[in-house]
Amino acid sequence: MTLPLPALTPVEETLWITLTGRAFDSRLPAPVLGDTMADELVRKTGYTDDKLRWTRVSCLEVAQRAKKLDEVAQRFIARHPDAIGIDLGAGLDTRAFRIEPPPTVDWYDVDFPDVVAARRRLIPDRPHVHAIGADLTNPAWLESLPTDRPAVIVADGLMAFLAEADMIALLRRLTDHLHSGEIAFNVYTKFTVRAAKLAPSVRFLQPLFKSPGFDRLDPVRWNPKLTLIEEIMLTREPEIARYPPALRLWTRLAALSTSISRLGTVVARYRF
Ligand SMILES: C[S@@+](CC[C@H](N)C(=O)[O-])C[C@H]1O[C@@H](n2cnc3c(N)ncnc32)[C@H](O)[C@@H]1O
Repeated sequence: MTLPLPALTPVEETLWITLTGRAFDSRLPAPVLGDTMADELVRKTGYTDDKLRWTRVSCLEVAQRAKKLDEVAQRFIARHPDAIGIDLGAGLDTRAFRIEPPPTVDWYDVDFPDVVAARRRLIPDRPHVHAIGADLTNPAWLESLPTDRPAVIVADGLMAFLAEADMIALLRRLTDHLHSGEIAFNVYTKFTVRAAKLAPSVRFLQPLFKSPGFDRLDPVRWNPKLTLIEEIMLTREPEIARYPPALRLWTRLAALSTSISRLGTVVARYRF
């Protein structure tokens, strides 16, 4: 039996891209992330869409990106057991179930109200995990968050959907409201945004992208409270060993060059 969901806007619907990517990864014999809950959600909703033509390459990349952001959150929480975690544009991601923060941590998943309504129908409650239905460009949602605890903030596949001014304002509000912490997200460079025009599997995203693309150093230029502390190039990460042989070889060659690696997915981590 499948569970019908409320109609979502095209931007909200992009949550299926990442969810199905993680679901397909979990079906591989040697998954990168192994998020079986993502697969359960896809099966429960009966989601199918011809727009999403997943290749093994792209689902591995989505899964690897999620894994890197999971690791950022896990490492931060290990150092700060009193932390709060925030997933911006969480979609139907169940990161808190993957990283299993201790009960001393409060975790907040933020997305548009209709997405949060879908989350509430599909994803079981978990103590200390909260869902906030809000437009991230509206400052009010931050008011419900504690200000005095260290915060780890992740955003997986979000930033391209925010206009540059909205991204700058969001980063400023986060660093002004929260005492200290880290924020990590995948970088959408101008190249990534332009490449989306050409790749048939994601060309439909192009009109939804509001960002012209940004460099990993732009957030530091926009916001003096941010310091770039890590640039995680997926080409250089250990999960590449799970890639199929030809792709693995190509990726290992690409990893030799920083410029070529930066054409692929990069997760940037900042401290504030
Ligand atoms: C590509 S999806 C990624 C979802 C999730 N992070 C994941 O990895 O599965 C982008 C998400 O950002 C959300 N989003 C985009 N703009 C937003 C905004 N202004 N406010 C709240 N959520 C937003 C969308 O609703 C969508 O769920």
